[in-house]
This record gives sequence, structure tokens and C-alpha cells, in this order.
Amino acid sequence: MKKDEMIKEILELKKKRNAVIVAHNYQVDDVQEVADVIGDSLALSKYCAGVDKDVIVFCGVHFMAESAKILSPDKTVLLPEIDAGCPMADMVTKEALIEEKKKHPNATVVCYINSSAEVKSECDICCTSSNAIDIVRAVKSKDILFVPDQNLGSYVSKMVPEKNIILWNGYCVTHHRVKSDEIDRVKELHPNAEILVHPECQPNIVDAADFAGSTKQIIDYAAKSPNKDFIIGTEMGVLFKLKKDNPDKNFYLLSQGLVCPNMKKTSLSSIYNALNEMKYEINLDENIRLKAKKSLDNMLELS
Ligand code: 13P
Ligand code: SF4
Repeated sequence: MKKDEMIKEILELKKKRNAVIVAHNYQVDDVQEVADVIGDSLALSKYCAGVDKDVIVFCGVHFMAESAKILSPDKTVLLPEIDAGCPMADMVTKEALIEEKKKHPNATVVCYINSSAEVKSECDICCTSSNAIDIVRAVKSKDILFVPDQNLGSYVSKMVPEKNIILWNGYCVTHHRVKSDEIDRVKELHPNAEILVHPECQPNIVDAADFAGSTKQIIDYAAKSPNKDFIIGTEMGVLFKLKKDNPDKNFYLLSQGLVCPNMKKTSLSSIYNALNEMKYEINLDENIRLKAKKSLDNMLELS
């Protein structure tokens, strides 16, 4: 099917199924073009918590579709590519977390939304990259077990020094591989550019940047800044919106390695198949869902 035909079919199926298509900022351009809502993890969670359609087609990775199902259990949540996972989320399991919690009985467990529903069910409160600092500040205990992203955890512990943050050793394979010599190289090429990075990058990269924030915060920062040139240190999918919203500004990717293969799995044909065959439906054990919902609700109350 040609692209135009495919889009027409998707729009018809969307109507027939009473569905909404939501997409993370890292999705490929075609997917962002057809999506009804595009955003960062926090914005998409908030949207899914109050959605009024019967079906949510979640163009992102597995933990995101799970979060949508946790918050909207009566809706049918479809993940168009069932193998679209998040390697960082897989770096912590429920069993390993239960063991670690025993070593830190006084710690509050703050888990990054990039984690499975099972892991969320063992946490006290979730956070995303856009609210992690506020969430950690709001937690009453001094000790915080932060899972699974060591880089986001390090960034938060720098910003909230009054807390004792115990880090897990997980990381995002895509952001973790950015090296400081790549900053030197791009800065040499674009000396006046501001460097905007995601806190999933390693601490030396975040320290060298002008701004660190979630995908949405990076997009908002670039729109407001009077600067014309920006070096972007997050997954390349954000370039779609950055360029669309700011046609007179220049954006340079910090590293060619900033591609998340899992975020790139979803295409127009996967969305078409998802709506046509109603696949792949996300279902959760109700006990796990209710416990995981508590940690997401705790976050949303503070966001
Ligand atoms: P945000 O869009 O919340 O910044 O998330 C980044 C991410 O890595 C999602 O997988
Ligand atoms: Fe996971 Fe990193 Fe891909 Fe986000 S960019 S889905 S954190 S691997």
C-alpha cells in the first residue's frame, strides 16, 4: 500500500474502532505524523489516564503501553509491535528489587517509569525524567532506592543533595554510549550552539550540557531560547518536532549513536495491522495492576 492510502485506511479504522493513536517523541516521522497525541512519558501517561476513546494504540515501547493499561484498565491498549521493549526497563526485575529492598528497609523506592508493571508494583512512587527532581524532593525519607536508571539517579542526586540516593546499575543503552569526545567534536563544528541533553546520558555529558531535561522539556527549551543553533543529546526522533516547530533554527544530533532500535520498530503498517487485527493487546494481572497503579497515582498527584 502507498503511504497516502495507508494513512487513509488507518484513519478509517481509527474511526471504526473509536481509537486514539498516541506516540512517544522518539517515534519515526511517519508515525508522529499520523498520531493524535505526541509527547514525553509524563504527558502520555496523563493523557492515557483520562482518555475517552475505547482503544489506545500506543506507539512506543512495552512499559509505556503497560502504563496506559494500568491507568486505563477499561480501555483496550494495543502495542503495534510486541517486541518493542526497553532494554533499561529489563535491567531490573521484581525479584531482584525485592532482594535489594531488604538491604535498605528505611528507603523509599522511587522507580523511573521505564520499568515493568511488576517492578512498579514493588515501588512506592514512580517518576519520569521531567518530574524526577520534584518527586525525590517530595519524598519524606532521606534514603531513596532509585531504580533502574543510574544516570537519571545520579543527576537527581546532584540536584537534591539532601537525599541519600541508592542507585541501581541500569542504564539506557542508547544514551549511555554518548562519549565526551563527541561533545568536543560537535562543539568545534557549531561553537555557538546550546547543548540540550537527556538525563539518561552519563554524568560527564550532562555536566557539559547547557540544559538537561525530558524530551518535552528539550523541545520546549529550544522553542523558547533566542539561540539559533542546538546540539541535541537525546534519541533522534525528537528532531521531527524540533524542526517542525522551529523551521528557522538548526539542530545537530550530538552522536550518531542516538537511535533507539526499539522505538524505531513501529511503522505505519504496524499501526494499520494493530487497528485491523486488534493486536497486540496488553493485559495485566489485576493484583499487579492495582499495586503498580498506586505508584503511578502517587506520581500523578504530585505532577
Ligand atoms: P521522556 O520522553 O519522558 O523524556 O522519556 C525518554 C525515554 O527514554 C523514553 O523511553
Ligand atoms: Fe529504553 Fe533508552 Fe529506548 Fe528509551 S531510548 S526506550 S530508555 S532503550
